[in-house]
Amino acid sequence: MGKVRRLGVLTSGGDCAGLNAVIRAVTYRAVRTYGWKVFGIIDGSTGLMERPLRYRELDLDMFSGTMLREGGTFLGTVNRGDPFNYPMPDGSTKDRSLDFVDGFNKLALDALIVIGGDGSMKILSQLCAVGGIGMVGVPKTIDNDVHGTDFAVGFTTAVNVVTEALDRLHPTAASHHRVMILEVMGRDAGHIAINSAISGGADVALIPEVPYRLDSIARKIDEVIREGRNHVLMVVAEGCKTEDGELATKAQSHGQMRYGGIGQYLSEHISNMTDLETRVTSLGHVQRGGTPSTRDRLLASAFGVHAVDMVAEGKLNRMTAWQERGVTDVPLEEVCIGPRSLDPNGTLIKVARGLGIYVGESEA
Ligand code: F6P
Repeated sequence: MGKVRRLGVLTSGGDCAGLNAVIRAVTYRAVRTYGWKVFGIIDGSTGLMERPLRYRELDLDMFSGTMLREGGTFLGTVNRGDPFNYPMPDGSTKDRSLDFVDGFNKLALDALIVIGGDGSMKILSQLCAVGGIGMVGVPKTIDNDVHGTDFAVGFTTAVNVVTEALDRLHPTAASHHRVMILEVMGRDAGHIAINSAISGGADVALIPEVPYRLDSIARKIDEVIREGRNHVLMVVAEGCKTEDGELATKAQSHGQMRYGGIGQYLSEHISNMTDLETRVTSLGHVQRGGTPSTRDRLLASAFGVHAVDMVAEGKLNRMTAWQERGVTDVPLEEVCIGPRSLDPNGTLIKVARGLGIYVGESEA
Protein backbone atom coordinates (compact mmCIF):
# COMPACT_ATOMS: atom_id res chain seq x y z
CA MET A 1 0.00 0.00 0.00
CA GLY A 2 1.28 3.48 -0.83
CA LYS A 3 1.18 6.57 1.36
CA VAL A 4 -1.95 6.73 3.54
CA ARG A 5 -4.09 9.49 2.14
CA ARG A 6 -6.63 11.71 3.77
CA LEU A 7 -9.68 12.09 1.61
CA GLY A 8 -12.43 14.66 2.13
CA VAL A 9 -16.00 14.16 0.96
CA LEU A 10 -18.87 16.63 1.02
CA THR A 11 -22.39 17.04 -0.32
CA SER A 12 -23.44 20.36 -1.80
CA GLY A 13 -26.67 21.83 -3.22
CA GLY A 14 -30.17 20.45 -2.82
CA ASP A 15 -30.34 17.00 -1.25
CA CYS A 16 -31.77 13.96 -3.02
CA ALA A 17 -32.05 10.22 -2.51
CA GLY A 18 -28.81 8.27 -2.90
CA LEU A 19 -26.33 10.72 -1.35
CA ASN A 20 -25.64 8.48 1.65
CA ALA A 21 -25.08 5.59 -0.76
CA VAL A 22 -22.35 7.61 -2.52
CA ILE A 23 -20.67 8.49 0.80
CA ARG A 24 -20.83 4.81 1.80
CA ALA A 25 -19.24 3.68 -1.48
CA VAL A 26 -16.48 6.30 -1.15
CA THR A 27 -15.74 5.18 2.42
CA TYR A 28 -15.81 1.45 1.61
CA ARG A 29 -13.46 1.84 -1.36
CA ALA A 30 -11.06 4.27 0.32
CA VAL A 31 -10.81 2.39 3.62
CA ARG A 32 -11.05 -1.21 2.43
CA THR A 33 -9.07 -1.05 -0.79
CA TYR A 34 -6.57 1.71 -0.12
CA GLY A 35 -6.42 1.95 3.67
CA TRP A 36 -7.01 5.72 3.56
CA LYS A 37 -8.72 7.93 6.10
CA VAL A 38 -11.98 9.57 4.99
CA PHE A 39 -13.34 12.80 6.43
CA GLY A 40 -16.95 13.82 5.88
CA ILE A 41 -17.27 17.62 5.77
CA ILE A 42 -20.42 18.89 7.49
CA ASP A 43 -22.84 21.17 5.61
CA GLY A 44 -20.95 21.38 2.34
CA SER A 45 -18.28 24.03 1.88
CA THR A 46 -19.21 25.78 5.16
CA GLY A 47 -17.70 22.91 7.17
CA LEU A 48 -14.28 23.89 5.84
CA MET A 49 -14.88 27.65 6.01
CA GLU A 50 -15.95 27.84 9.66
CA ARG A 51 -13.75 27.60 12.76
CA PRO A 52 -13.64 25.23 14.45
CA LEU A 53 -13.72 23.08 11.33
CA ARG A 54 -16.82 20.93 11.12
CA TYR A 55 -16.20 17.36 9.95
CA ARG A 56 -16.29 13.76 11.11
CA GLU A 57 -14.02 10.88 10.29
CA LEU A 58 -15.98 8.20 8.46
CA ASP A 59 -15.47 4.54 9.22
CA LEU A 60 -17.01 1.28 8.04
CA ASP A 61 -19.14 0.92 11.20
CA MET A 62 -21.15 4.01 10.30
CA PHE A 63 -22.57 2.15 7.35
CA SER A 64 -23.38 -1.14 9.04
CA GLY A 65 -26.97 0.08 9.60
CA THR A 66 -29.50 1.43 7.14
CA MET A 67 -27.46 4.25 5.59
CA LEU A 68 -27.60 2.76 2.08
CA ARG A 69 -31.39 2.90 2.22
CA GLU A 70 -31.81 6.39 3.65
CA GLY A 71 -32.67 9.56 1.73
CA GLY A 72 -31.06 12.95 2.44
CA THR A 73 -27.42 13.36 3.41
CA PHE A 74 -26.22 12.60 6.91
CA LEU A 75 -23.39 15.11 6.33
CA GLY A 76 -25.81 17.98 5.70
CA THR A 77 -25.65 20.32 2.73
CA VAL A 78 -26.07 23.95 1.68
CA ASN A 79 -27.56 25.46 -1.46
CA ARG A 80 -26.99 29.14 -0.84
CA GLY A 81 -24.12 31.38 0.22
CA ASP A 82 -21.57 31.50 -2.62
CA PRO A 83 -18.17 31.46 -0.76
CA PHE A 84 -16.82 34.04 -3.22
CA ASN A 85 -19.63 36.42 -2.23
CA TYR A 86 -20.51 35.12 1.19
CA PRO A 87 -23.40 36.94 2.91
CA MET A 88 -22.22 38.44 6.21
CA PRO A 89 -24.50 39.23 9.20
CA ASP A 90 -24.20 43.00 8.55
CA GLY A 91 -25.64 42.59 5.04
CA SER A 92 -22.30 42.93 3.21
CA THR A 93 -20.63 40.12 1.25
CA LYS A 94 -17.10 38.78 1.61
CA ASP A 95 -14.83 36.53 -0.45
CA ARG A 96 -14.27 33.56 1.88
CA SER A 97 -12.56 31.29 -0.61
CA LEU A 98 -9.27 31.41 1.30
CA ASP A 99 -11.04 30.24 4.49
CA PHE A 100 -12.12 27.17 2.53
CA VAL A 101 -8.58 26.51 1.26
CA ASP A 102 -7.15 27.07 4.73
CA GLY A 103 -9.70 24.61 6.16
CA PHE A 104 -8.68 21.99 3.61
CA ASN A 105 -5.01 22.47 4.53
CA LYS A 106 -5.67 22.48 8.30
CA LEU A 107 -7.35 19.09 7.93
CA ALA A 108 -4.31 18.00 5.90
CA LEU A 109 -6.49 16.57 3.14
CA ASP A 110 -4.99 15.23 -0.08
CA ALA A 111 -8.08 15.50 -2.27
CA LEU A 112 -11.78 16.29 -2.11
CA ILE A 113 -14.77 14.41 -3.49
CA VAL A 114 -17.66 16.79 -4.15
CA ILE A 115 -21.13 15.32 -4.57
CA GLY A 116 -23.13 18.08 -6.22
CA GLY A 117 -25.26 19.40 -9.07
CA ASP A 118 -24.13 21.71 -11.86
CA GLY A 119 -24.11 24.87 -9.71
CA SER A 120 -22.15 23.30 -6.85
CA MET A 121 -19.76 21.63 -9.26
CA LYS A 122 -18.92 25.03 -10.72
CA ILE A 123 -18.46 26.85 -7.40
CA LEU A 124 -16.52 24.02 -5.76
CA SER A 125 -14.24 23.62 -8.77
CA GLN A 126 -13.47 27.36 -8.63
CA LEU A 127 -12.80 27.11 -4.88
CA CYS A 128 -10.52 24.12 -5.39
CA ALA A 129 -8.69 25.97 -8.17
CA VAL A 130 -7.91 28.85 -5.75
CA GLY A 131 -5.97 26.48 -3.49
CA GLY A 132 -4.69 24.01 -6.10
CA ILE A 133 -6.91 21.38 -4.44
CA GLY A 134 -7.44 18.14 -6.36
CA MET A 135 -11.18 17.56 -6.75
CA VAL A 136 -13.30 14.75 -8.12
CA GLY A 137 -17.00 15.49 -8.71
CA VAL A 138 -19.92 13.10 -8.41
CA PRO A 139 -23.12 14.31 -10.13
CA LYS A 140 -26.33 14.35 -8.12
CA THR A 141 -29.62 16.16 -8.61
CA ILE A 142 -33.22 15.18 -9.09
CA ASP A 143 -33.23 17.64 -12.04
CA ASN A 144 -30.77 15.45 -14.05
CA ASP A 145 -29.43 18.59 -15.69
CA VAL A 146 -25.69 17.98 -15.27
CA HIS A 147 -23.70 17.90 -18.51
CA GLY A 148 -21.51 14.92 -19.39
CA THR A 149 -23.57 12.19 -17.74
CA ASP A 150 -26.74 10.40 -18.77
CA PHE A 151 -27.86 10.19 -15.16
CA ALA A 152 -27.23 12.03 -11.90
CA VAL A 153 -27.86 10.38 -8.53
CA GLY A 154 -31.38 11.10 -7.23
CA PHE A 155 -33.11 11.49 -10.58
CA THR A 156 -34.71 8.08 -10.98
CA THR A 157 -36.00 8.12 -7.40
CA ALA A 158 -37.70 11.46 -8.11
CA VAL A 159 -39.22 10.15 -11.35
CA ASN A 160 -40.51 7.12 -9.45
CA VAL A 161 -42.16 9.44 -6.91
CA VAL A 162 -43.87 11.44 -9.67
CA THR A 163 -44.98 8.29 -11.49
CA GLU A 164 -46.48 6.96 -8.29
CA ALA A 165 -48.25 10.29 -7.77
CA LEU A 166 -49.82 9.94 -11.24
CA ASP A 167 -50.84 6.36 -10.37
CA ARG A 168 -52.65 7.83 -7.36
CA LEU A 169 -54.13 10.80 -9.19
CA HIS A 170 -55.55 8.66 -11.99
CA PRO A 171 -58.36 6.94 -10.04
CA THR A 172 -59.49 10.16 -8.33
CA ALA A 173 -59.39 12.00 -11.69
CA ALA A 174 -61.56 9.26 -13.21
CA SER A 175 -63.98 9.18 -10.27
CA HIS A 176 -64.61 12.93 -10.41
CA HIS A 177 -64.21 13.53 -14.17
CA ARG A 178 -61.43 16.03 -13.59
CA VAL A 179 -58.31 17.46 -15.17
CA MET A 180 -55.51 16.76 -12.71
CA ILE A 181 -52.51 19.06 -13.05
CA LEU A 182 -49.32 17.82 -11.41
CA GLU A 183 -46.54 20.39 -10.99
CA VAL A 184 -43.10 18.82 -10.68
CA MET A 185 -39.58 20.08 -9.91
CA GLY A 186 -36.64 20.33 -12.29
CA ARG A 187 -35.78 24.05 -12.41
CA ASP A 188 -35.35 25.08 -16.06
CA ALA A 189 -35.14 21.53 -17.40
CA GLY A 190 -37.98 19.16 -18.23
CA HIS A 191 -36.26 15.82 -17.54
CA ILE A 192 -38.44 14.87 -14.57
CA ALA A 193 -41.61 16.05 -16.32
CA ILE A 194 -41.12 14.19 -19.61
CA ASN A 195 -39.91 10.95 -18.01
CA SER A 196 -42.77 10.80 -15.53
CA ALA A 197 -45.41 11.92 -18.05
CA ILE A 198 -44.53 8.96 -20.26
CA SER A 199 -44.24 6.42 -17.46
CA GLY A 200 -47.32 7.74 -15.63
CA GLY A 201 -49.62 7.88 -18.66
CA ALA A 202 -50.19 11.65 -18.82
CA ASP A 203 -52.05 13.32 -21.69
CA VAL A 204 -50.19 16.63 -21.49
CA ALA A 205 -46.53 17.24 -20.56
CA LEU A 206 -45.34 20.84 -20.42
CA ILE A 207 -41.60 21.45 -20.24
CA PRO A 208 -39.56 24.67 -20.20
CA GLU A 209 -37.73 23.71 -23.41
CA VAL A 210 -40.85 23.74 -25.62
CA PRO A 211 -43.43 26.57 -25.80
CA TYR A 212 -47.11 25.67 -25.45
CA ARG A 213 -50.49 27.23 -26.22
CA LEU A 214 -53.45 27.19 -23.87
CA ASP A 215 -55.91 26.64 -26.73
CA SER A 216 -53.87 23.61 -27.85
CA ILE A 217 -54.13 22.17 -24.33
CA ALA A 218 -57.90 22.76 -24.40
CA ARG A 219 -58.08 21.00 -27.79
CA LYS A 220 -56.14 18.05 -26.38
CA ILE A 221 -58.58 17.81 -23.49
CA ASP A 222 -61.54 17.87 -25.92
CA GLU A 223 -59.87 15.17 -28.00
CA VAL A 224 -59.44 12.91 -24.97
CA ILE A 225 -63.10 13.38 -24.07
CA ARG A 226 -64.19 12.66 -27.66
CA GLU A 227 -62.20 9.43 -27.45
CA GLY A 228 -64.46 8.45 -24.58
CA ARG A 229 -62.39 9.24 -21.49
CA ASN A 230 -63.79 11.54 -18.82
CA HIS A 231 -60.56 12.67 -17.18
CA VAL A 232 -57.15 14.06 -18.09
CA LEU A 233 -53.71 13.91 -16.48
CA MET A 234 -51.28 16.80 -17.01
CA VAL A 235 -47.67 17.12 -15.86
CA VAL A 236 -46.06 20.56 -15.83
CA ALA A 237 -42.45 21.34 -15.02
CA GLU A 238 -42.05 24.10 -12.43
CA GLY A 239 -39.76 26.05 -14.80
CA CYS A 240 -42.50 26.53 -17.44
CA LYS A 241 -43.55 30.11 -18.01
CA THR A 242 -47.03 31.44 -18.74
CA GLU A 243 -48.22 31.36 -22.35
CA ASP A 244 -46.84 34.90 -22.73
CA GLY A 245 -43.43 33.89 -21.44
CA GLU A 246 -43.86 35.49 -17.98
CA LEU A 247 -42.74 33.89 -14.73
CA ALA A 248 -45.70 32.28 -12.96
CA THR A 249 -44.45 33.48 -9.59
CA LYS A 250 -42.15 36.20 -8.37
CA ALA A 251 -41.45 34.44 -5.06
CA GLN A 252 -38.00 34.98 -3.60
CA SER A 253 -36.19 33.44 -0.68
CA HIS A 254 -32.79 34.73 0.55
CA GLY A 255 -32.33 36.60 -2.73
CA GLN A 256 -32.96 33.53 -4.88
CA MET A 257 -35.93 33.00 -7.20
CA ARG A 258 -38.26 30.23 -6.02
CA TYR A 259 -39.93 28.14 -8.68
CA GLY A 260 -43.56 27.12 -8.47
CA GLY A 261 -47.02 28.45 -9.32
CA ILE A 262 -47.38 27.46 -12.96
CA GLY A 263 -49.86 24.68 -12.07
CA GLN A 264 -52.22 27.22 -10.51
CA TYR A 265 -51.95 29.51 -13.55
CA LEU A 266 -52.81 26.62 -15.89
CA SER A 267 -55.70 25.54 -13.71
CA GLU A 268 -57.27 29.01 -13.71
CA HIS A 269 -57.07 29.29 -17.50
CA ILE A 270 -57.96 25.72 -18.43
CA SER A 271 -61.02 25.57 -16.18
CA ASN A 272 -62.41 28.50 -18.21
CA MET A 273 -61.74 26.74 -21.50
CA THR A 274 -63.18 23.26 -20.84
CA ASP A 275 -66.22 21.66 -19.19
CA LEU A 276 -64.11 19.62 -16.77
CA GLU A 277 -63.12 20.75 -13.30
CA THR A 278 -59.39 21.15 -12.66
CA ARG A 279 -57.33 20.43 -9.56
CA VAL A 280 -53.64 21.12 -8.91
CA THR A 281 -51.11 19.06 -6.99
CA SER A 282 -47.62 20.44 -6.44
CA LEU A 283 -45.32 17.64 -5.32
CA GLY A 284 -42.48 19.86 -4.13
CA HIS A 285 -39.81 18.41 -1.88
CA VAL A 286 -41.54 15.04 -1.67
CA GLN A 287 -39.60 14.33 -4.88
CA ARG A 288 -36.29 14.71 -3.06
CA GLY A 289 -36.97 12.40 -0.15
CA GLY A 290 -37.63 8.76 0.41
CA THR A 291 -35.60 5.65 0.02
CA PRO A 292 -33.34 5.65 -3.08
CA SER A 293 -34.42 3.59 -6.08
CA THR A 294 -32.42 0.53 -7.11
CA ARG A 295 -31.06 2.51 -10.07
CA ASP A 296 -29.87 5.35 -7.81
CA ARG A 297 -28.19 2.92 -5.42
CA LEU A 298 -26.34 1.31 -8.33
CA LEU A 299 -25.33 4.67 -9.75
CA ALA A 300 -24.24 5.98 -6.33
CA SER A 301 -22.15 2.87 -5.70
CA ALA A 302 -20.51 2.95 -9.14
CA PHE A 303 -19.73 6.67 -8.83
CA GLY A 304 -18.36 6.36 -5.27
CA VAL A 305 -15.98 3.51 -6.14
CA HIS A 306 -14.86 5.16 -9.36
CA ALA A 307 -14.28 8.54 -7.69
CA VAL A 308 -11.89 6.99 -5.17
CA ASP A 309 -10.07 5.08 -7.93
CA MET A 310 -9.68 8.37 -9.79
CA VAL A 311 -8.03 9.93 -6.73
CA ALA A 312 -5.74 6.90 -6.46
CA GLU A 313 -4.75 7.29 -10.13
CA GLY A 314 -4.26 11.05 -9.81
CA LYS A 315 -7.12 11.62 -12.26
CA LEU A 316 -8.28 14.88 -10.70
CA ASN A 317 -10.46 17.83 -11.64
CA ARG A 318 -12.87 15.51 -13.38
CA MET A 319 -16.39 14.26 -12.65
CA THR A 320 -17.64 10.68 -12.63
CA ALA A 321 -20.25 10.08 -15.31
CA TRP A 322 -22.59 7.40 -16.60
CA GLN A 323 -22.37 6.92 -20.36
CA GLU A 324 -23.05 4.03 -22.71
CA ARG A 325 -23.97 1.51 -20.03
CA GLY A 326 -20.97 2.14 -17.81
CA VAL A 327 -19.14 4.46 -15.44
CA THR A 328 -16.54 6.84 -16.84
CA ASP A 329 -15.29 10.38 -16.14
CA VAL A 330 -15.27 13.74 -17.88
CA PRO A 331 -13.27 16.98 -17.37
CA LEU A 332 -14.91 19.47 -15.01
CA GLU A 333 -14.61 22.26 -17.59
CA GLU A 334 -16.96 20.32 -19.87
CA VAL A 335 -19.47 20.04 -17.02
CA CYS A 336 -19.39 23.55 -15.56
CA ILE A 337 -21.13 25.27 -18.46
CA GLY A 338 -24.59 25.66 -16.94
CA PRO A 339 -27.55 23.30 -16.72
CA ARG A 340 -28.24 20.65 -19.38
CA SER A 341 -31.64 21.14 -21.00
CA LEU A 342 -33.80 18.42 -22.44
CA ASP A 343 -33.19 18.05 -26.18
CA PRO A 344 -36.41 19.13 -27.93
CA ASN A 345 -35.51 16.75 -30.78
CA GLY A 346 -34.54 13.90 -28.45
CA THR A 347 -35.98 10.42 -28.06
CA LEU A 348 -38.28 11.09 -25.14
CA ILE A 349 -40.13 13.97 -26.76
CA LYS A 350 -40.59 11.83 -29.87
CA VAL A 351 -41.88 8.97 -27.74
CA ALA A 352 -44.27 11.27 -25.88
CA ARG A 353 -45.64 12.70 -29.14
CA GLY A 354 -45.81 9.20 -30.56
CA LEU A 355 -48.12 8.30 -27.70
CA GLY A 356 -50.30 11.33 -28.43
CA ILE A 357 -49.12 13.34 -25.42
CA TYR A 358 -49.32 17.11 -26.03
CA VAL A 359 -45.78 18.40 -25.38
CA GLY A 360 -46.09 21.90 -26.79
CA GLU A 361 -45.93 23.53 -30.17
CA SER A 362 -42.59 22.86 -31.84
CA GLU A 363 -42.39 19.76 -34.01
CA ALA A 364 -39.64 17.30 -33.18
O1 F6P B 1 -32.27 21.50 -7.91
C1 F6P B 1 -33.08 20.65 -7.17
C2 F6P B 1 -34.35 21.32 -6.76
O2 F6P B 1 -35.12 20.38 -6.04
C3 F6P B 1 -35.16 21.93 -7.89
O3 F6P B 1 -35.86 20.95 -8.64
C4 F6P B 1 -36.03 22.91 -7.12
O4 F6P B 1 -36.47 23.98 -7.91
C5 F6P B 1 -35.09 23.41 -6.07
O5 F6P B 1 -34.10 22.42 -5.89
C6 F6P B 1 -35.74 23.70 -4.74
O6 F6P B 1 -34.76 24.25 -3.91
P1 F6P B 1 -34.98 24.50 -2.35
O7 F6P B 1 -34.70 23.20 -1.66
O8 F6P B 1 -33.99 25.54 -2.03
O9 F6P B 1 -36.40 24.91 -2.15
